[in-house]
Amino acid sequence: MTKNLFAQITGLGMCVPPKILTNADLEKMVDTSDEWITQRTGIKERHLVEGETLSDLSVIAAREALQDAGLKGEDLDLIIVSTTTPDMQFPSTSCLVQKELGAKKAACFDLAAACTGFIYGLSVANQFIISETYKNILLIGGEVLSSITDWQDRSTCVLFGDGAGAVILEPTREEKGIISVYLAADGNFADFLKVPAGGSRQPATIKTVQQRLHFLKMRGNETFKVAVRAMGEAAKEALSLAGLSSKDVDCLIPHQANIRIIKAAAKRLGLDEDKVFINVEKYGNMSSASSAVALYEAVKCGKVKQGSIVVMTAFGSGFTSGGCVIRW
Ligand SMILES: CC(C)(COP(=O)(O)OP(=O)(O)OC[C@H]1O[C@@H](n2cnc3c(N)ncnc32)[C@H](O)[C@@H]1OP(=O)(O)O)[C@@H](O)C(=O)NCCC(=O)NCCS
Repeated sequence: MTKNLFAQITGLGMCVPPKILTNADLEKMVDTSDEWITQRTGIKERHLVEGETLSDLSVIAAREALQDAGLKGEDLDLIIVSTTTPDMQFPSTSCLVQKELGAKKAACFDLAAACTGFIYGLSVANQFIISETYKNILLIGGEVLSSITDWQDRSTCVLFGDGAGAVILEPTREEKGIISVYLAADGNFADFLKVPAGGSRQPATIKTVQQRLHFLKMRGNETFKVAVRAMGEAAKEALSLAGLSSKDVDCLIPHQANIRIIKAAAKRLGLDEDKVFINVEKYGNMSSASSAVALYEAVKCGKVKQGSIVVMTAFGSGFTSGGCVIRW
């Protein structure tokens, strides 16, 4: 009997722009302090673009992932870019990436599931692979959140950063790679975290610009509470789909929004902190790039090894949430 197909991650890449904005820098911009930001979020610094675009960051991350997998652009069958901050409303950023990589035969689309986008993307790529539709898939989680950050709003501007992470997924008949994925959404919370204008509901006008409606707005405190619950639940559901429990987890890679959310979600899963990968202090919340970059760093630093059971869990605007179990 032929063994089942699995989608395995065979290449990893990442890119953050060189410019760093520290908490001390933010103290000069808004009424805040390093102490407040560190205590409430765990963030110490974040990387911001200085002219680079999302496609620039994505292409650098993608080239590294391709090299890691031993593939070339022309080998790709599909490119997915998960983002809420595309270069333009259209064409999709994935098409811009395709051009730079010379990935002539790749189909391309962008995916919008906010901070959960990388896990949604893993799910989509997994489906294309196990259905034998495509073989070599490039998935990028990337954001230039600084482009929608209100630098006058201290309650949000301290939280976010820019970056991109990329993975290559390929089929394998060994039981490794994506073991299970769980996705969820609840549109009742759509107002909690959004960019009100710039879409077809409220196109750009002088008034929308003056009212700062093109920037991200968030009800932070309420978002926090739902995030803790949803990230814990998504991880549990993914583990249950895989026939595993918290005891089997070698490394939890949670969405890097806030150290307190990460610790509370880990506690809900009954996981010791040494099993949790955390890099929020260096990058802040990079939305869908956070999970991709965290996976990259967890593998490169040796926290994730051959055979490790990795659980990714994320939460984002929508609200969306998702969990994924990977056997590395
Ligand atoms: C944003 C967040 C860090 C705020 O922390 P919090 O403990 O909820 O703080 P609150 O919003 O209740 O604000 C507490 C006080 O700090 C103040 N404050 C807000 N931002 C501040 C800042 N950067 N510096 C100093 N004070 C600040 C508030 O004005 C408020 O003051 P008040 O009590 O005088 O009104 C937290 O709610 C959070 O992380 N939420 C989830 C965000 C998130 O992850 N979003 C993305 C999901 S993918």
